[in-house]
Amino acid sequence: MSASVATPSRSRVFSGVQPSGLPHIGNYLGAFRNYIAMQETHDAIYCIVDYHALTSTHDAELIRLNTYEMALGLLALGLDPERATLFRQSDRPEHVELSWLFATVTPVTWVERTPSFKEKRRNQPEDVNHGLLTYPILQAADIAIYHAKYVPVGKDQAAHLELAREIVRAWNARYGDYFVEPRAVFTDSPIVKGTDGVNKMSKSLGNVIDIFAEPDVVRKQVMSMVTDTQRILRTQPGRPEVCNVCQLHRFFGADYEVIWDGERTARTGCVDTKRLLAERMIDFFASARERRAKLAAKPGYVEEVLRAGAERLAPLARESMGECHARMGLGPLR
Ligand code: TRP
Repeated sequence: MSASVATPSRSRVFSGVQPSGLPHIGNYLGAFRNYIAMQETHDAIYCIVDYHALTSTHDAELIRLNTYEMALGLLALGLDPERATLFRQSDRPEHVELSWLFATVTPVTWVERTPSFKEKRRNQPEDVNHGLLTYPILQAADIAIYHAKYVPVGKDQAAHLELAREIVRAWNARYGDYFVEPRAVFTDSPIVKGTDGVNKMSKSLGNVIDIFAEPDVVRKQVMSMVTDTQRILRTQPGRPEVCNVCQLHRFFGADYEVIWDGERTARTGCVDTKRLLAERMIDFFASARERRAKLAAKPGYVEEVLRAGAERLAPLARESMGECHARMGLGPLR
């Protein structure tokens, strides 16, 4: 495995996920499905981005706990540490160093116009810290430091990936071709909406459907979903194309057309469709839930996976930084 990090025979993928605690359906449909599929075909590196998390929370215990939970969740869902490298971002501090170097070739206007920055400035006006502005530069560094070519992410990350490409291009233009321009890889799922039916599913908005929660919690979350708001009476035909519940059925069962038709013709009501969706989701993740419980019972298991992952990446991260120092003029006279 360590040999494949230095000289990958398969093309490399990298992705990062926020330590938001228990993974939810949006994480899974948008990105994790691809994480797991791509570990079979690519040299895969996955990272829990705790440095990034600091831009939105300053609760130390929460970040640690959520990092653990996210790692455990990924392993339970099938991420295999024998095939893929899973690590914690802060265990490879070279990412932060590279983000500084990248910052020096990134025009301020590029980060100021980033949609996620504008959104955060609106959503957390009491904490518009500088990390929010630098966020996408650190993300570019995460990917580039390992020369990853493909980045499985949800569609909400398209702008960040575009910016990562621009930053790499700017660095290469100044210091010579070295870093790889990364490309986003999306799943076939559109941005997954939360139970509010409006916003993207996200832990911080409290609109998630959990993967590992107790079945009764999942049922409650699904039953709370906002559906087609124009369908008021059970007998009234619905609009499955805008109904979030119907849209999610696509991924949990082979009879999407039947569900669609039921809603369109008012043969089924929202409550029926929700009940069915909840049971299907619970079934779908039953084995992952069992696996999570088993792994959680192994003392030190998750920590050992993360530690070994970071260690495996050390040579590559150091090599990239050495090359940056050489090309950018850092260090002694040569
Ligand atoms: N910004 C990403 C998200 O919120 C997380 C992330 C950080 C990431 N670094 C990355 C994703 C590098 C892909 C590659 O989902």
